[in-house]
Amino acid sequence: MAEPGKVDMAKLVSLCQRRGFIFPSSEIYGGLSSCWDYGPLGVELKQNIKRAWWQAVVQERDDIVGLDASILMHPRTWEASGHVEGFKDPLVECKSCHLRWRSDEVKGDKCPSCGGELTEPHLFNLMFKTFIGPIEEEASVVYLRPETAQGMFVNFENVVNTTRKRLPFGIAQVGKAFRNEITTGNFIFRCREFEQMEIEFFVKPDSAKQWFDYWLEERLGWYTKLGIKKENLRLRQHSKEELAHYAKDCYDIDYLFPMGWAELEGVANRGDFDLVQHSSFSGKSLVYYDEETKEHITPYIIEPSAGVDRSCLAFLCDAYSEDVVEGELRVVLHLHPDLAPIKVAVLPLSRRENLVSLAKEVCADLRRHFMTQYDDAQSIGRRYRRQDEIGTPFCVTVDFQSLEDKQVTIRERDSLKQIRVPIAELKKTLQAKLGGEDLFVLPPGGKIWKEGEASKQ
Ligand code: GAP
Repeated sequence: MAEPGKVDMAKLVSLCQRRGFIFPSSEIYGGLSSCWDYGPLGVELKQNIKRAWWQAVVQERDDIVGLDASILMHPRTWEASGHVEGFKDPLVECKSCHLRWRSDEVKGDKCPSCGGELTEPHLFNLMFKTFIGPIEEEASVVYLRPETAQGMFVNFENVVNTTRKRLPFGIAQVGKAFRNEITTGNFIFRCREFEQMEIEFFVKPDSAKQWFDYWLEERLGWYTKLGIKKENLRLRQHSKEELAHYAKDCYDIDYLFPMGWAELEGVANRGDFDLVQHSSFSGKSLVYYDEETKEHITPYIIEPSAGVDRSCLAFLCDAYSEDVVEGELRVVLHLHPDLAPIKVAVLPLSRRENLVSLAKEVCADLRRHFMTQYDDAQSIGRRYRRQDEIGTPFCVTVDFQSLEDKQVTIRERDSLKQIRVPIAELKKTLQAKLGGEDLFVLPPGGKIWKEGEASKQ
């Protein structure tokens, strides 16, 4: 059994593949290195993460608006941002086995795989290049964006003009980004195609420090509110040497992944770098008129930049646990109800026709409100385990007594407690439970359930 709080990456990868969370990309051709496909459960988890983020940073706030910029941008964007010149990793190659490594990650001067001699490092740009139009000529080179951020900087003026937002305000975006990473691996931690959730928060320069601190706290709180254990998160400030060319200050929000502490999200104070650069490269003034001081200023930008895939991995690692129920090993994902791919499973106690028809009716009704699964295969205990393993917070059991009293049993994933509720109250009860209300606030006519087959684990 796994040590509490310690997850074995191999076990997690196996669960993700077995249960349909995440598959290697184009697996039937042998996969494509560091590209992944999200399966039926993975896509739900990912969407729930993005929805929770959007709700917290756009829907519930008056000072941030959303954007969905295109992946392909004018090539000058990447000159202005510094990516053409500076978005490079030092690469070394083994002269014997020809494996390539990031030179800053190799200890010593020998190949970590075969001990062979390494070449001198040369710089390698991480952007994927492609071409617009049918002729592959330099004039039509474009890049797959390596971050979503630039789409927000180049739309700064459009957003100010159309929304009439005043400083401080932000733009938020979720979308794909692409990097031709040299060092890959650790499952979905470092991919060549991944998704980001980024906020560019524009502030008056003299308030930048205060907003930087605010966003660090806010973003840490988002992870813990969605169930990540505080002890598995830490803040790590970048040293001067480590700071990106655009950053005045930067902290990583690190998570204790199975391979150790690693970056989950970065929060940077980008100063006025981006608006100044895009002004100068586009020839378009990107200043803001401050009505209070009657001055034109270039806002500073505070950027909380999170990865969707890394968040998926962190939420999965944190939720994974193994316990023993009635002498049997149980694998459970204790996912927050907002993130769980399936919210409720409907399980008829037997496949007898009258029971199945009532269970299907209950299921059809719940489907209109929640992601609901119907399962009538194998013993009830097995079916509970299957739902526990994918993190379903509630199972609804329909038994023979349900035909008589029009009540069903709700069984909770984490506490294993059960309550009996009238079918008429089921949707409202589940809605309340999924919203975080105590399971034992019973609906009218409900009771704690200890009797009968359905209560057995
Ligand atoms: N706009 C700033 C920026 O892109 P970053 O630290 O390079 O900053 C931000 O990336 C976040 O994007 C990271 O904290 C991580 O969650 C995610 N990310 C970056 N590269 C990734 C990769 N190759 N695979 C998966 N996620 C990645």
